[in-house]
Amino acid sequence: MAAVGRVPLIAGNWKMNLDHLQSIAFVQKLAWSLKDAHHDYATTEVAIFPPFTDLRSVQTLISADKLDLAFGGQDVSAEESGAFTGEISARFLKALDSSYVIIGHSERRTLHHETDDEIARKVAAAITHGIVPLICVGETAADLEEFGPSAVPVAQLTAALARVPKATDVVVAYEPVWAIGSGLAATPEQAEQVAMALRAVISDVLGAGVASATRILYGGSVKAANIASLMREPNVDGALVGGASLDIAEFSSIVRFLKHVGT
Ligand code: 13P
Repeated sequence: MAAVGRVPLIAGNWKMNLDHLQSIAFVQKLAWSLKDAHHDYATTEVAIFPPFTDLRSVQTLISADKLDLAFGGQDVSAEESGAFTGEISARFLKALDSSYVIIGHSERRTLHHETDDEIARKVAAAITHGIVPLICVGETAADLEEFGPSAVPVAQLTAALARVPKATDVVVAYEPVWAIGSGLAATPEQAEQVAMALRAVISDVLGAGVASATRILYGGSVKAANIASLMREPNVDGALVGGASLDIAEFSSIVRFLKHVGT
């Protein structure tokens, strides 16, 4: 379980699912479901990452209904403004009250050829605008075979933190590419081993104080059935959930992992 002082974070990455109308109904139902279950947001923080076109609707609903859900974008431009067709700046996300932004998801690294340097610039842009970057790292099955479990995530995180000022709040998500959408999550031991190596990187780059305060999430086929065992690991402070974040009963059950941590 997360060390004292680190509030676990369960984050839902919706990817390219749910339009803005669907997002309103979904967030209402999710909030009701968690309220019904007496979820205490002080013990486990909940964040959702809808598509850009949903963010204004989600912000309006969360603010009007005073919901405790945090939210943010799934990507951000490294640039401030200008001739960058299709891009969204950190300033725009902040103007919509985004607390977080996902940066460097493996789908963007692979499908959109994002480089480590670009990711480091995006991280810096988010921080400049007061948004906490949720930095994703993870190895492919081929990387795992060639370099072992931690080498690629460690190198990716080192690069992503290159422009981060000391004493900055970041969240890191370890998402092995082979576990994403595969139904085959990493074992708790595998997740812990890499999370520990990532915490050592944060300590080297940003100092021991920041390292002990930083949440490191696991992502890749997280479900209600495996969250409790992952959360028992000392360096795993939450989860970045893809497919299961689109199912309200399943996602609420993941959020309430403390209730089934003994199971
Ligand atoms: P799944 O939970 O669907 O495996 O996706 C994980 C992920 O990519 C979250 O960012």
